[in-house]
Amino acid sequence: MNHPALPPSGACGQALPHESARAHVTGAAPFIDDLPELAGTLHAAPILSPLAHGRLLGLDTAAALALPGLRGLVLAADIPGHPLLPTSAQDEPLLAQDELLYAGQVIGLAVATDRETARRAARLVQLRTEALPALLSARAAHAASHYVAPPVHLARGDVATALEQAPHRLTGSLESGAQEHFYLEGQVAYALPQEQGQWLVHASTQHPGEVQHAVASALGLCNHDVQVVCRRMGGGFGGKETQASQVAIWAALAAHKFARPVKLRLDRDDDFLITGKRHAFSFDWEAGFDDQGRLLALELTELADCGFSADLSVPICDRAVFHSDNAYFLEHVAIHSWRCRTHKQSSTAFRGFGGPQGMLVIETIMGEIARRLGQDPLEVRRLNLYGTQERHVTHYGMPLEDNILAPLIDNLAQSARYLERRAAIVHWNATNPVIKRGLALTPVKFGISFTATQLNQAGALVHVYTDGSVLLNHGGTEMGQGLHTKVAQIVAQALGLPLPCVRVSASDTARVPNASATAASTGTDLNGRAAQLAAIQVRERLAQFVAEQDGCSAAEVRFEQAQVVSPKVSRAWKEVVAAAYSARIQLWSDGYYRTPKIHYDPRTLTGRPFYYFAYGAACTEVAIDLLTGESRVLAVDILHDVGRSINPALDIGQIEGGFIQGMGWLTSEELVWDAQGRLLTHGPSSYKIPSAGDLPAEFRIELWPEANREDNVYGSKAVGEPPFMLAISVWEALRDAVAQARGDGQPVQLDAPATPERLLRALGGLD
Ligand code: MTE
Ligand code: MOS
Repeated sequence: MNHPALPPSGACGQALPHESARAHVTGAAPFIDDLPELAGTLHAAPILSPLAHGRLLGLDTAAALALPGLRGLVLAADIPGHPLLPTSAQDEPLLAQDELLYAGQVIGLAVATDRETARRAARLVQLRTEALPALLSARAAHAASHYVAPPVHLARGDVATALEQAPHRLTGSLESGAQEHFYLEGQVAYALPQEQGQWLVHASTQHPGEVQHAVASALGLCNHDVQVVCRRMGGGFGGKETQASQVAIWAALAAHKFARPVKLRLDRDDDFLITGKRHAFSFDWEAGFDDQGRLLALELTELADCGFSADLSVPICDRAVFHSDNAYFLEHVAIHSWRCRTHKQSSTAFRGFGGPQGMLVIETIMGEIARRLGQDPLEVRRLNLYGTQERHVTHYGMPLEDNILAPLIDNLAQSARYLERRAAIVHWNATNPVIKRGLALTPVKFGISFTATQLNQAGALVHVYTDGSVLLNHGGTEMGQGLHTKVAQIVAQALGLPLPCVRVSASDTARVPNASATAASTGTDLNGRAAQLAAIQVRERLAQFVAEQDGCSAAEVRFEQAQVVSPKVSRAWKEVVAAAYSARIQLWSDGYYRTPKIHYDPRTLTGRPFYYFAYGAACTEVAIDLLTGESRVLAVDILHDVGRSINPALDIGQIEGGFIQGMGWLTSEELVWDAQGRLLTHGPSSYKIPSAGDLPAEFRIELWPEANREDNVYGSKAVGEPPFMLAISVWEALRDAVAQARGDGQPVQLDAPATPERLLRALGGLD
């Protein structure tokens, strides 16, 4: 299949390299820890709670304070402003004081002239504590009615009756584990006191505006006193959407106490112990279906392990409910979503934001229905797909207007030779006693927009300097996903310039205020449109200026290939800009965009939470070693919908990266807490993210050749998160392999991640 048609010239639609690619690989792209340190800079290190739940009775600090180079400690009593994180839940102390709420909670900071001394001192602080009983799983917290927020119950139709009348019924449970973000650059902030009580904070954050707000609150200042800057992150993946705030606050509290610049760069193990992960979920379900495998009724309970505070758990659990249909029409359905408060790290945003968990359970159910009936799982999936004219309204009342699921799946099934390969695998498994193979083709439908409607707005500034060069600033942040490149392409396209004429500046709260987090995959949709509108305003002023000179209408003036072309004459962009400046024409503009059409009721979860959906499908083949439980992903075929691609190279990069990260979630990335609630896996030696060797030998990716049917920037679709969930095909292929190996037609009992131990157990070999 071909890539979407490209426009004749212009920066959009081209597979251009990431704006920092060269700097990344040569080491010339500074991250916060690379910034030159001001003279007098101090370093902070956190003092951590050893208990999952307990009382803090006192601290013995003598040994720590005796270390040469130690400047002192920062404790809750040193907070000049509000002692709680300024979230709506108001349930997170900046520093623990009397009650300890998880093992790894930050009690205070050791501050020293160098990082090593600070870290050593933090470990020398003796804590006097008393342990209290701890809730360490969503099921335990649910049994104790311990929640961060009230439950949500979403129902359509009459589940009880439909279940009763269904020809077949199945029940099941599923645990899906947490996931560590493992951003290559850990959490880091550098807080610099400025004149007259003002602050400059460099933070590795997806949401500079929230860091600004949080630091101002902790220091007892107004937002205008705090400027937060982020040029780039070495990955965020959701882990720096809210939880960069605490790190910046801690640096700022220390900088405030000692009146010095303070840098806080978390050690990797501390980062694991302190910060939140993807929510682990526990599911219980009952499905009713007919002889063909059509789902007639579904009752589903979703227990989320939210950790010790609410953080983003409410919208994450909402998104899990919204995505518990994935691609399938749920006629009679009841979903019960419980937001359980445990004594663990506060679970937070992670690529997909609850969507992956909701989609995992429905895909698991589809596979189980197929196995129960002895049908091909793809046939059962097809039978349950949303329609286009009927069976097209989601369980939250949103009609699917842009449904391309059926043709997309058919297309992939053909190009990946699904049926032939299924037959070949059955043959392989019949003849190979040790290595068993499995195959699955699963779809993705992912809703694009922040479910909190107010966040769907963005601003940008486009400055044209007198030499014709362009500086772009927008409210989004760069975490490796290529947002700055895409937005610059959009501006270059709007002005008819080659991409190198447009430079993007760091994200900065002093330039674009009140920007939303770069999250929910909306970075390009929101900021790209805002920047496009800003560029168009400058362009229209220049067109008007030229039209007046040439006696034509402004609409007749075109901007292409760094030329400004009127019916009369073609001039260089640079000349027009210089002349316009002399004629006192404003050469810069702001732009503002908010997503149209969206609305929903957060109490009932009904309405149109999403502007549109991104679609995709993946066909994956795996192999399992029955003796060791080890598995490999052998081949992956993906057909994914990015609308009209602004940059196919970046989009394919996002699809590859998202898929592999999803594969890690479902196979090797296992977080283990001990019976006391201490995280045992807190570094790369014990927590296994996919590495180069885990890449499938065959990895084919095609883009769906159709523009977004909604009016989105350049006809594109968001791509950041949706491909993550293509990896559910790995999960289903592994389950297929287990079922084929067992050959007993029984349901597959397997929890995620499908580690070798779990696979052996599912195969019946470990008990
Ligand atoms: N890609 C890279 N390289 N690094 C990241 O941290 N984060 C993901 C995704 N892709 C991430 C990434 C997440 S969680 C989101 S929400 C989107 O990028 C955010 O950026 P976007 O809105 O510009 O797609
Ligand atoms: Mo992404 S989880 O929305 O930061």
